[in-house]
Amino acid sequence: MKILLATQKPFAVAAVAGIRQIVEAAGHDLVVFEKYASQSDLVAAVADADAMIIRSDKVTAEVLDAAKRLRIVVRAGAGYDNVDLPAATAHGVVVENTPGQNSNAVAELALAMMIFMARNQFTPATGSEIQGKTLGIQAFGHVGRLVGAKAAALGMKVRAIDPFLPAEKIVGGGAEPAASLEELYATSDYVSIHIPATPETIGSIGYDLITKMPKGATLVNTARKEVIDEAGLEKALEDRPDLKYIADVAPDNLAVLKEKFGLRVFATPKKMGAQSAEANLNAGLAAARQIVAFFADGCTRFQVNK
Ligand code: 3PG
Repeated sequence: MKILLATQKPFAVAAVAGIRQIVEAAGHDLVVFEKYASQSDLVAAVADADAMIIRSDKVTAEVLDAAKRLRIVVRAGAGYDNVDLPAATAHGVVVENTPGQNSNAVAELALAMMIFMARNQFTPATGSEIQGKTLGIQAFGHVGRLVGAKAAALGMKVRAIDPFLPAEKIVGGGAEPAASLEELYATSDYVSIHIPATPETIGSIGYDLITKMPKGATLVNTARKEVIDEAGLEKALEDRPDLKYIADVAPDNLAVLKEKFGLRVFATPKKMGAQSAEANLNAGLAAARQIVAFFADGCTRFQVNK
């Protein structure tokens, strides 16, 4: 089988070597297609692929139409909002992710972002400490739990909410359950967002929620830019000069935000939460193994378009 590793943002060399080893040991061929310039290049590259490993690469209906032999796409990572699931299902293509494999890298970045903002983006102005502050975690999945455990170890009070988890699971994960999302925001010096981008969550964090945060609070987004209502964020930062926003997923209105709010806003130029050597290896090798298992015995354990 031909397995296409299509990563506009490449994995570390060691991760690519590990993926190749797993794929070739199972008798398949790996074609590495990195740093491609445009979506039309991806459409051309998938023509004879039987399987794909991707990151945030966009597997659209057009890509799926062009991939006549494609049977499985594995998103080496957690969020699969970059894959057109209905189109994949219509084409009979299995879509999987690799849950948990890159979570630690993202969790570490979320913590780093809190400290970076607490210390005024590492400028000499007097900052604050995160010890003793309250962290609210919005969605208590793989990343949220790790953020909570690390924050607790640094002396933060950790609270969380997750629409898919009962309170006892939040308690079991070491956090205090919030009564509602509004209450979580109202009681947290830092809120760390870990929700996926879905039709229900897109644009769901806006002015009303953000302005519930207490004085001097910081909103940390290592999830997806789409979950923020950007106009609402801008207005919240305008009306509340004490609030801060940091993101690993730059908002479309970043230039305006930076001009208006200076050091109260920061965004990474390119999403890099999962960009550690360890996360590349974990997610990349898991994706390769999942594809090998799929072709060996039809295993679809991590399928997300069932
Ligand atoms: C994920 O959903 O796993 C993260 O956002 C990482 O995305 P990336 O593979 O594009 O870095």
